[in-house]
Amino acid sequence: MSQVFHEIEKKIISVLKTESKLTPEKLEKLTQLSPDQIRRGIEWLKLKELAIVNESKNTNFSLGKNGLESFQKGLPERRLLDLIKKNSMTISDLQKELGSVFGPAMGLAKRNDWISSNGNEISLKNYPSSLAGEKTLKQIGEGTISESILEKNDLASLLKRPDFLVENIVKTKEISLSKNAQTLDVTSSDSGAIDVEAKVPEVFVARTHPLKDTIDEIREIFVTLGFTEILGNMTQPSFWNFDALFTPQDHPARELQDTFYLDGISAKKIGTPEQIRKVSESHKKNWRYYWDINEARKMVLRTHTTCVTIKHLAENKPDEARVFSLGRVFRNEKVSYKHLVEFNQIEGVVVGKDASLRNLMGIQREFYKRIGITKIKFWPTFFPYTEPSLQTMVYNERLGKWIELFGMGIFRPEVTKPLGITKPVLAWGGGIERIAMLKYGLDDVREFYNNDLKWLRGATKCQ
Ligand code: PHE
Repeated sequence: MSQVFHEIEKKIISVLKTESKLTPEKLEKLTQLSPDQIRRGIEWLKLKELAIVNESKNTNFSLGKNGLESFQKGLPERRLLDLIKKNSMTISDLQKELGSVFGPAMGLAKRNDWISSNGNEISLKNYPSSLAGEKTLKQIGEGTISESILEKNDLASLLKRPDFLVENIVKTKEISLSKNAQTLDVTSSDSGAIDVEAKVPEVFVARTHPLKDTIDEIREIFVTLGFTEILGNMTQPSFWNFDALFTPQDHPARELQDTFYLDGISAKKIGTPEQIRKVSESHKKNWRYYWDINEARKMVLRTHTTCVTIKHLAENKPDEARVFSLGRVFRNEKVSYKHLVEFNQIEGVVVGKDASLRNLMGIQREFYKRIGITKIKFWPTFFPYTEPSLQTMVYNERLGKWIELFGMGIFRPEVTKPLGITKPVLAWGGGIERIAMLKYGLDDVREFYNNDLKWLRGATKCQ
């Protein structure tokens, strides 16, 4: 198999083929590459198991203050011995001559039986031709010498003396080629420049669907804004999809032409007896009609995510909450460029004693801004369960027109009171496909489900 190498790798390999165990500094000189390029090249080759890096520690010595003095004038004991080599001297004269090193020099000389004393007179007894440490002093001199070439015992004697030696630990790296790399052929006729426009094989790796990317992005935005996701079933008793939301049983939205019913399926348990009683009372009192529990039992494919919201609120009665739900909803619509029978909705909810319409609009602006939409306006509208009710309109630059996005409002007391919800509830929701159409510049919502590979492969990941 032939491998593709970067110019940096090629240069390093060629040099290492002629000489192994090179330091990075040596490699720099021989390849004419910068320290940074060498560092990167070595890392790449190491990852490919083509280069081996040996790291070693080396100790060097140079002379300290006392070491240098001894190098210049001789070891203190050598100086003492030389002074009395010919004639004996008095202690006070020796002290004058040797100064601060008199003490150590005398101590050593006595211990080694090199001198004898007669009262105040010191005279030579033995004159050693070499002293421990003298060889090392000479070797190091004013330079720096690696520990490896110094004599161990001689060095040890100097190490015991204060300020004689300065120890330096140096780490070195040596780079060689691994066995795999010895036979590589990296010669090429390249000029050395990298052709960034060279043709590459087209590879279509698996990717997430653009609509899924939009869903993930929206979920991420809500989580970032401090919302928690709540989940609900796609099939619901009419009770939660409509009745609990103060939608009268003869409302057109509940008709077969608009809603998918699960044929002949009725829920046995739709809520607590209290919830059922209070919701039905609210309908009877405010809409003034005969409320039929059998109508509320009919199972539907949820027509919006607001059923998840209201069920969550009824079950938890929070004083404060920031939650969202996201998922498929179903409507018996004629499929067209702007309608599908099933699509995705996002719904957000804020509960809090100070929640206001102003907050609601502020949150919308923030959400749209994060999606990349800034030109928006609010329009009054109607939902059976909110008052006031608004609709966000966003401007589509490409089409040059305003389009409807989220519906929103504050839940009516006719909705909240029967279910024991006491604090104001802000809610808003709308279709995710609509947002995705804006993002991807589509005019026909059906394109998301056409499985057109060309479009799917070309749809940008980031806007
Ligand atoms: N449920 C509404 C829809 O499907 C949106 C909405 C949600 C409106 C919450 C008000 C409050 O269009």
